[in-house]
Amino acid sequence: MKQVRIAGKEWVPALGMGTWMIGEDRSRRAEEIATLQRGIDLGMTLIDTAEMYGDGASERLIGEAIKGRREQVFLVSKFYPHNATVRGARVACEDSLRRLEVDCLDLYLLHWRGNVPLEETVEAVEKLQAQGKIRHWGVSNLDTDDMRELDGLPGGAAVAANQVLYNLSRRGVEWELLPWCAERDIPLMAYSPIEQARLLRHPELRALAAQHGATPAQLALAWLLRREQVIVIPKASTRAHVEENFAALQCPLDDATLAELDRLFPPPRRATPLEML
Ligand SMILES: NC(=O)c1ccc[n+]([C@@H]2O[C@H](COP(=O)([O-])OP(=O)(O)OC[C@H]3O[C@@H](n4cnc5c(N)ncnc54)[C@H](OP(=O)(O)O)[C@@H]3O)[C@@H](O)[C@H]2O)c1
Repeated sequence: MKQVRIAGKEWVPALGMGTWMIGEDRSRRAEEIATLQRGIDLGMTLIDTAEMYGDGASERLIGEAIKGRREQVFLVSKFYPHNATVRGARVACEDSLRRLEVDCLDLYLLHWRGNVPLEETVEAVEKLQAQGKIRHWGVSNLDTDDMRELDGLPGGAAVAANQVLYNLSRRGVEWELLPWCAERDIPLMAYSPIEQARLLRHPELRALAAQHGATPAQLALAWLLRREQVIVIPKASTRAHVEENFAALQCPLDDATLAELDRLFPPPRRATPLEML
């Protein structure tokens, strides 16, 4: 498994698993659990969730899937912006820990920026760290200006990751946010890496993938995985999909393919506000 360095000292898998909309349908539960377990077996041991997902249903399902193998997993969860106060984050974190049936999160992210000052949120996550409830903290959906502001706050430079929308059809982060984070050794976590499956219907991407003996999902994931400091978290709810996604690690992209992908999905030519799903 390719690894990405996080918080300056720890290595995590570059390819993990997203879990939005998992755990919400009882009839799919067994396969979703089997899918997460298969992903862990393959080495996709970084699992991303949030208190928001299914109102805790995603965290509960993950808790079941990782029972007995907590130490193999790098567990990421997120708290709502309205819980980004000292008290709110403590309660939200304790609730997440209870649903996940674990003592500690590996990474805890502010889901997006709301009205609570970043300064208070940094204080909140530092307290959780001091109490041993989280190991690292980070943010999600923060654009470069917000990251600059965070970086200037006491303790703010300890931000371990920024989880943002990034895929072939959403390349705006390449203009400024990606290089800004890379310079500071802050990994980006690319969410919706196959654009919630919409990329898979792109006719020219499908044709290019076929030329490589790959699937469009694999090509889209391989394109993100080639970057040094990007962690990619596709969501799959079947074992077939997770196995297909894992094989993206074995999908080399030569210069001609990269140039063709740039033609199909041009890089940004100007600054644009960070997009969000
Ligand atoms: N921080 C944020 O604000 C934020 C926002 C969005 C997402 N996220 C995180 O990022 C994760 C990934 O993003 P996402 O779930 O929005 O979208 P995604 O991973 O781009 O796409 C998921 C969709 O693609 C399908 N899929 C996955 N692998 C496939 C394959 N090999 N072949 C065909 N279809 C495949 C899935 O179907 P099946 O389910 O049927 O396998 C699902 O419908 C989320 O689950 C969540 O953890 C974070």
